[in-house]
Amino acid sequence: MSIPFNQSFPATRLRRLRQSGWIRNLTAENTLTPADLIWSMVVHDGDEAKVPVAAMPGLNRLNVAEAAKAAKRASDLGIPAIAIFPHINPAHKDEEGSESLNPDGLIPSVIKAMKDAAPDVGVICDVALDPFTTHGHDGLIDESGYVLNDETTAVLVEQALVQAEAGADVVAPSDMMDGRIGAIRAALEESGHSNTLILSYAAKYASGFYGPYREAIGSATALIGDKKTYQQNPANTDEALREVAMDIEEGADMVMVKPGLPYLDIVRRVSETFQIPTFAFQVSGEYAMIQAAAQNGWIDGDRVMMETLLSFKRAGASGIITYFAEAAAEKLVS
Ligand code: PBG
Repeated sequence: MSIPFNQSFPATRLRRLRQSGWIRNLTAENTLTPADLIWSMVVHDGDEAKVPVAAMPGLNRLNVAEAAKAAKRASDLGIPAIAIFPHINPAHKDEEGSESLNPDGLIPSVIKAMKDAAPDVGVICDVALDPFTTHGHDGLIDESGYVLNDETTAVLVEQALVQAEAGADVVAPSDMMDGRIGAIRAALEESGHSNTLILSYAAKYASGFYGPYREAIGSATALIGDKKTYQQNPANTDEALREVAMDIEEGADMVMVKPGLPYLDIVRRVSETFQIPTFAFQVSGEYAMIQAAAQNGWIDGDRVMMETLLSFKRAGASGIITYFAEAAAEKLVS
């Protein structure tokens, strides 16, 4: 694209194109629709229909029945897919995260309930062990607390198979182990799940913006240390391209950049470099900041919500995974 440099005033008055709504709409370069949204949803294995998450005002953990209703709601609103994240009863956690492999566990139950209620809505499952481990890490640890790569990958493969077996449309590894996409893809092929999609959290940074999520899924008090030996250094961008290239090579159908707004430069580079659907995750801390400022009357929450979501589209994202999906879709369809 060449940028014209010879537009001179007053022949050119760019404000003509901004003077009223119809012309602004007609000349908008990017648009946001409900079809751009993936609903990020926290589910729990208790009886209560909805449990508020203090660090994420407006967000509730949903039980299985409520999650099924929400899937129906997504269908009605035109939201194509839901990404589910589990809050597990601490009594079911252990060092190895073995509950993640329970075929009758929370996630398989939610998948089935959602697919029954709204078969047309895609169900995306997080592949990682942190909701299930007593130490809060995404994988298996050794005596020193180091997260073991290949041993973890072996468990993630099993977890992904449990999810695919239960009817998940998409498995989304968010753990950042090396080589896990290839291993999961091979196992899906071998077990007759060749149509199960993989959305790789390819460029995932070791970020402070995940703080509220740890409360939402109940791993906050658990986490020992940090995740810097497996998640990416926020200082890097070339490394993100290497991560994405490897995941595509290994069989990822779609890739994700995470967090979202502070990493729009990565979204832009990834979407320009690779011809692959690229999603951005507007994470818990981003949601919490907007909600907190809005609750204090410091910003117009709805306006900022819509502006941030559009920003992801402008940066080249195919879609956005967000806790605002329902609220944003309601505004878009009204
Ligand atoms: C971990 C996982 C995290 C999130 C999704 N999957 C947290 C982490 O990496 O520590 C964060 C989501 C959010 O902050 O909204 N497997």
